Amino acid sequence: MEHRDSISDFENENKIKQLEKSVRILQKKLERSEADRKALEEASEIRELLFTNVIRELEESQATLEKRGKELETALKNLKALQMKLIESEKMSALGVLVAGIAHEINNPVNFIYGNLYHASNYFESILKLINLYQYYYPKPVAAIQKEIESIELEFIKQDSLKLFDSMNMGAERILEIVKSLRTFSRVDESDLKTANINLGIDSTLLIINNRFKPSTKLPQGIQVIRNGTLPAIECYPGQLNQVFLNILVNAIDALEDAVIKNPQLLPTITITTELVNEQAVISIADNGLGISEKAQSQLFTPFFTTKDIGKGTGLGLSISYQIIVELHAGILECHSQPGNGAEFVIIIPIKQAKC
Ligand SMILES: Nc1ncnc2c1ncn2[C@@H]1O[C@H](COP(=O)(O)OP(=O)(O)O)[C@@H](O)[C@H]1O
Ligand SMILES: [Mg+2]
Repeated sequence: MEHRDSISDFENENKIKQLEKSVRILQKKLERSEADRKALEEASEIRELLFTNVIRELEESQATLEKRGKELETALKNLKALQMKLIESEKMSALGVLVAGIAHEINNPVNFIYGNLYHASNYFESILKLINLYQYYYPKPVAAIQKEIESIELEFIKQDSLKLFDSMNMGAERILEIVKSLRTFSRVDESDLKTANINLGIDSTLLIINNRFKPSTKLPQGIQVIRNGTLPAIECYPGQLNQVFLNILVNAIDALEDAVIKNPQLLPTITITTELVNEQAVISIADNGLGISEKAQSQLFTPFFTTKDIGKGTGLGLSISYQIIVELHAGILECHSQPGNGAEFVIIIPIKQAKC
């Protein structure tokens, strides 16, 4: 019996040991699966983190792409504008060459006419004097001469010839003026780069056309000129710049004369502002006239574009100005105008010119 007991004890012990072993194994398995679970959890956390990162990066790159797209769009727009400007200036240069040729060819014969007109009118006056002398001393000419005097209407010729020479003179002067403008337009003098005071240039230009600011029949109140700002001396072609100021100012005066016809209450004003912005001289000339229609604005700088009557406008002023500012000074010439609300011309030029 005792032996039996000891056997069952032994068996029990064995079973316990086995049980303990399986518990240990189970525990190990449990531990391992716990570790696996943890590892999995960590892995999924990492994956999640990675995903968020990837999504964020994607979002960021999408934003960058959108930004680049917009930048490209603007660049394309700028390029198109530049291309238009290039085409425009290319047209201008080609026209410049043509115009220079024509101006050169016209200049000489017109000078002959203008120069000889003076002598011709002197000769004619002398002959008239001689005829008068004849008539004084021989008041009763023979019938044939008397007949000729009547047939050529000598008295009318005497009176009309002076007017005739005057108008021929005026015509020749006008042609010379146009030829001069054409030459400036095409040649744009490149030999005269100087450091000059722009404000003095504006003053002298204003002085030249001073009589057009005074009260007149067309402008009973005259024109009020307001000056603002200063500028340091800048490197430029001062003579050419003065021509630009003159062209723009004369246009403003013309515009104000028209505006006063429509609105007699208007106080005609020209405001000239000069300032230095980012190493560039900015000159603004604004009037409170009738402004410029959008259609006209797109053609302003085209040679021979004019809305003025024949004989008054040549349509060259602004195209010459464009040439002088944009091509000669590497600057910008802009027009801002809302129809009915006056016009502003803005000239922007670097204060130093690039050396060629
Ligand atoms: N300040 C202004 N106000 C209104 N219109 C203007 C002004 N400046 C220029 N213009 C318009 O631009 C046209 C072209 O000017 P421009 O080239 O100087 O030639 P022109 O004065 O001989 O007509 C003018 O005929 C006019 O229609
Ligand atoms: Mg003009």
